[in-house]
Amino acid sequence: MAGKMWAGRFTKEVDERVNDFNSSISFDARMYRYDIEGSMAHATMLGECGIIEKHESEKIVQGLKGILADIDEGKLQFDPTAEDVHMFVEAELTKRLGDTGKRLHTARSRNDQVALDVRMILRAETKEIIELVKKLEHTILDIAEKNLTTVMPGYTHLQRAQPITFAHHLMAYANMLLRDISRLEDSYKRTNIMPLGSGALASTTYPINRQRVCDLLGFDEITQNSLDGVSDRDFCIELCSAISLLMMHLSRFSEEIILWCSWEFKFIELDDAYATGSSIMPQKKNPDVTELIRGKTGRVYGDLNTLLVMMKGLPLAYNKDMQEDKEAIFDAIDTVKLCLKTFDPMLATMRVIPENMRNAAAKGFINATDCADYLVKKGMPFRDAYKITGTLVHTCIEKGCTLETLPLEEYKKLTDNFDEDVYDAISLETCVMQRKAAGGPAPESVKAQIEYVRNKL
Ligand code: ARG
Repeated sequence: MAGKMWAGRFTKEVDERVNDFNSSISFDARMYRYDIEGSMAHATMLGECGIIEKHESEKIVQGLKGILADIDEGKLQFDPTAEDVHMFVEAELTKRLGDTGKRLHTARSRNDQVALDVRMILRAETKEIIELVKKLEHTILDIAEKNLTTVMPGYTHLQRAQPITFAHHLMAYANMLLRDISRLEDSYKRTNIMPLGSGALASTTYPINRQRVCDLLGFDEITQNSLDGVSDRDFCIELCSAISLLMMHLSRFSEEIILWCSWEFKFIELDDAYATGSSIMPQKKNPDVTELIRGKTGRVYGDLNTLLVMMKGLPLAYNKDMQEDKEAIFDAIDTVKLCLKTFDPMLATMRVIPENMRNAAAKGFINATDCADYLVKKGMPFRDAYKITGTLVHTCIEKGCTLETLPLEEYKKLTDNFDEDVYDAISLETCVMQRKAAGGPAPESVKAQIEYVRNKL
């Protein structure tokens, strides 16, 4: 771009390498809509406050509308040599309106302008992410509703631990995602604050009306300190942090799906449309989508780290380091959206295999706690009951049987408290049905959990 807007103080053209190095248009052009909407509000306010002539303010707004329409329709291309989207739009306006276009930047700096644009784009993106998470929640709830009585082993240390249902397991993720939504909504609150009017750092001598710009752009309130207004990127970091936790949840879920669709588990089968083959092994059906989500989670953590490290040593107020915020936060946003958009239909089309879950639950003595509880109900102290049950498990392992198939006389050898009804007490179905405390796996309890999440969405 020949002739910089700030050229007056300089005696030389900027070196081409510096120009390329400095330029952010390749990644901030995506904010054009917000840059233009922000400028329209600013120009309107300037006109209303008598800082520029009313008719000029109207001309600027019309000119900006034209630029927006032309970019939307592909009639106007971004100049890759422009310094950034802000300079590009202003230069284009001046090209179209002449001197009137040059009045737009009155009482404004790119420092407060970029802070505004980033807040506006993050507002929109946060809303989109929330909607995608809600969609995924609905998918999870639908699958849970169909699997209220699908018994499966619950694990600790990846060792079979106690019987639960598939619905119960899924609802753990539904609750994680509910917290993600709440975190996104929370970061939205601190994003939706209007910084324009902070100027370069020390506000302005013009009689501006910041509240008017705030109202025009639908922000909740204005920033309270001009230095903070231009140098705050907490909202980027908060959003990236909320996205990182969301990715962590998707990654843990993905890891389980990877396990579940292995031949070792075979609890589920992915739809062919959401799995991939091998170039050499004809039998392979790989869960690439979930592996990529697990991998991309690390990438989003990298974005969060970029933002945190970028900010930690910056003196007030604006520093050019902060231009680095965009690639990091946009990458996190694009990655999580991509993951959500692929994970949701993959989950919705996944086939659950209840027999295999039930078979896995039948092995591993996951009803041992219930066996001990049976003795406690007959009056025995828990520690004694625990020890006896441990001995029984040992006997089963030696005999190659399960607690369900171990003959009653073996039980009775250890204590007379055992009767025929022990078999009913340790049946997997009973074990699940009896765990009806709030939050537990009993179908009625999981139904309440589903209801709870549905009401929050
Ligand atoms: N492209 C810049 C950024 O993204 C805009 C602000 C430039 N401000 C400045 N004082 N050079 O941060």
